[in-house]
Amino acid sequence: MSSALRIWHPFSNSVLDPAPIRVTKAEGVFLHTADGRRIIDAISSWWVNLHGHANPRIAAAIAEQARNLEHVILAGFTHDAAEELAERLRKWVPRDLTHLFFSDDGSTAVEVALKLAVQHFQNLSRPEKREIVALEHGYHGDTAGAMSVSDESPFTQAFQSMRYPVHRVHSAYCYRCPVGLNRQSCHIECVQQVEQLLAERADQIAAVIVEPLLQGAGGMIVHPVEFLQKVRALCTHHDVFLIADEVLTGFGRTGKMFACDLANVTPDLMCISKGITGGFLAMGVTLCSDRVESAFRSENRLHSFYHGHSYTGNALACAAANANLRIFDDEPVFARIDTIAKIHAERLAQVRDFHQVGETRQLGSIGVLELRVDDPGYLSSLRHKLYSFFLERGVLLRPLGNVVYVLPPYAIEPEQLHRVYDVITEAIETVL
Ligand SMILES: Cc1ncc(COP(=O)(O)O)c(C=O)c1O
Repeated sequence: MSSALRIWHPFSNSVLDPAPIRVTKAEGVFLHTADGRRIIDAISSWWVNLHGHANPRIAAAIAEQARNLEHVILAGFTHDAAEELAERLRKWVPRDLTHLFFSDDGSTAVEVALKLAVQHFQNLSRPEKREIVALEHGYHGDTAGAMSVSDESPFTQAFQSMRYPVHRVHSAYCYRCPVGLNRQSCHIECVQQVEQLLAERADQIAAVIVEPLLQGAGGMIVHPVEFLQKVRALCTHHDVFLIADEVLTGFGRTGKMFACDLANVTPDLMCISKGITGGFLAMGVTLCSDRVESAFRSENRLHSFYHGHSYTGNALACAAANANLRIFDDEPVFARIDTIAKIHAERLAQVRDFHQVGETRQLGSIGVLELRVDDPGYLSSLRHKLYSFFLERGVLLRPLGNVVYVLPPYAIEPEQLHRVYDVITEAIETVL
């Protein structure tokens, strides 16, 4: 008898990490485990869940869609669920973004944005305008192109040879300011690097890619809005596309539907994923302006965008996304986000002065504590201790090294969020 195939778990070490926990059911903010525990999912299952697990409205929409049309090739065909989604997204995305291209997840949404930017200039007979600028501490996914624009980290360390070169510029990481200044008195001098680069090389540069206002996996780093605004102005001035990777920040996480809304910025290309289906199914979308798309409107077949994935525009994922957006339309989602934001502010203020806490940060529904340790970074030894400590107390939090963040589904009740912070506070007092 052959032994069973063994699941290879992501971002896990099969020797050092504990065995995966078997989840049998999930409901609202809780994961129910096979051994009878109830765990609060305080990170929305890798930042995807919005309205709670097993949300009945989204579940029903998927079931209904499955009975009618589960999937159809999107090349040469379209379907109502995809058309409805394009219609519904229109209401929320910046007006100047007029086209959308479906893909499978955040990484592929980023790949599409990069390829569109590069091919745009290629189609206009400017093949030399193909370089990409990306930020320190950036994270854009794990496929080769997304990994190239992501900053060096333990995630990319083994794959240097597969990463294509990009220009790496400072991010506005105020707690560890790259130019040694203080946010209270600075004038966003960290942006001068990208300013100089664009002044020198704009003819070779196709796009600047940023995670707007919040760099996620790189350490939950919150940027001043002025940084994004200045990058936008520089891109416009130098005729370089701005790609906003809203894969994490989209769908209300920052308190607005998109982070770009908070800064009043319209990118040329925007990547969305994660929350788009409310956390039910994988889907990526890349939006772009009419100008970006115009270079593909051509009688030359080689000017077509030859890119697509088998499940592109999947009807079940579209139905889930439509149901998600209906919830935004008829439930008080932003009031829920506001309640979460207020609790973050209150509880972060209570721990800010602990000497173990280096900085607290917050953006909308995301609360962050950067802890003082001797080995900061993703591989900080503290991470594993905290992860186990939280789980033993029924809370799923996955610190990014010494950075603990709370990114709950909007369905979380105030007392559940307070419970999460009680456990974090206990950890600061006892583990650190
Ligand atoms: C900003 C950002 N971009 C892209 C990605 C990649 O998304 P996915 O994991 O769905 O490929 C992530 C994932 O965390 C992300 O945070």
